[in-house]
Amino acid sequence: MLPGTGALLRPFSPSRHAAAINMRHSFPPNRTRTGTDRMHPTTPYYLIDKSKLLRNMETIARLREASGAKALLALKCFATWSVFDLMRDYMDGTTSSSLNEVRLGHERFGKETHAYSVAYADYEIDEVVSHADKIIFNSIGQLDRFADKAAGIVRGLRLNPQVSSSSFDLADPARPFSRLGEWDVKKVEAVMDRVSGFMIHNNCENGDFDLFDRMLATIEERFAPLLKKAEWVSLGGGIHFTGEDYPVERFAERLKRFAGDYGVQVYLEPGEASITKSTTLEVSVLDALQRQEPCRGRQLHRGAHAGPADLSRERQSVAECRPASLHGLRKVLPRRRYLRRVRFERTN
Ligand SMILES: Cc1ncc(COP(=O)(O)O)c(C=O)c1O
Repeated sequence: MLPGTGALLRPFSPSRHAAAINMRHSFPPNRTRTGTDRMHPTTPYYLIDKSKLLRNMETIARLREASGAKALLALKCFATWSVFDLMRDYMDGTTSSSLNEVRLGHERFGKETHAYSVAYADYEIDEVVSHADKIIFNSIGQLDRFADKAAGIVRGLRLNPQVSSSSFDLADPARPFSRLGEWDVKKVEAVMDRVSGFMIHNNCENGDFDLFDRMLATIEERFAPLLKKAEWVSLGGGIHFTGEDYPVERFAERLKRFAGDYGVQVYLEPGEASITKSTTLEVSVLDALQRQEPCRGRQLHRGAHAGPADLSRERQSVAECRPASLHGLRKVLPRRRYLRRVRFERTN
């Protein structure tokens, strides 16, 4: 197991179409592993539905075919190598955000391996370079520091167009004082002899093609002189093109036009788009406490940490417990509790 890549993975195949990833390090010590255990692993675990994963992969393949863009799995989003065999046929390789991720991509996925990190340390750069065929530096400072060490592979720089679709401050490259990438065209032009391409990651959970299109137009406006000198451009991740009703054909046409206008190989780095809706967190309900008064349906799951799946189930159980009408509640609840409930119903 690679250090720092999370819980022990327990590949498991109840059928050819699913893989379960157990979150525990081992089965409870007082139980031995039997055939039944293999079919019903101890919860909590992630269950990957390969048929759903395949649907996303087929959309990615269709997009690659229609646009000419290459698709790299963003390992920071999904690093479950038990399904890499399936994904490898539909994607061009991986991209990473740390030494261990680039090593994982190189050793377990293969194909093209991009290395990117907000900063590399002196002690890790040689190993990063040994696993990558392209390295993207976050700043000119990092390029100055490591350009020679990375001279044997393709080098690039992250650009920050100062527009984004992110609503998370922490990861928003357009927030004031963001240090995610370079933005000064003159400064970047001065180092073009050492880089052949750029990475621009400014989409986040963006399922709106028109918004993507507008942001790409801004990128073209701001960085045209650099794009004209580049051989490749990665447009990062955060584009939800495997979502329902996403206009994949229009997206493909836009990418193809961008590639043609600047003479570049376009890359995408889908993380969430690669695996969306393919995986569930499986839990066991150990107890359900029923109360006389209208309940809020809080169920007790074995999973100690409520992940998104728990929360949505909890919301669902709240919905199931809603009375047919608030009017009925008015009769049974004291006034203050009734008003609190009305507020809850309106905001949920
Ligand atoms: C540089 C880069 N590429 C790709 C991704 C993957 O994004 P997503 O999982 O939203 O597609 C991220 C996520 O933060 C990223 O920072």
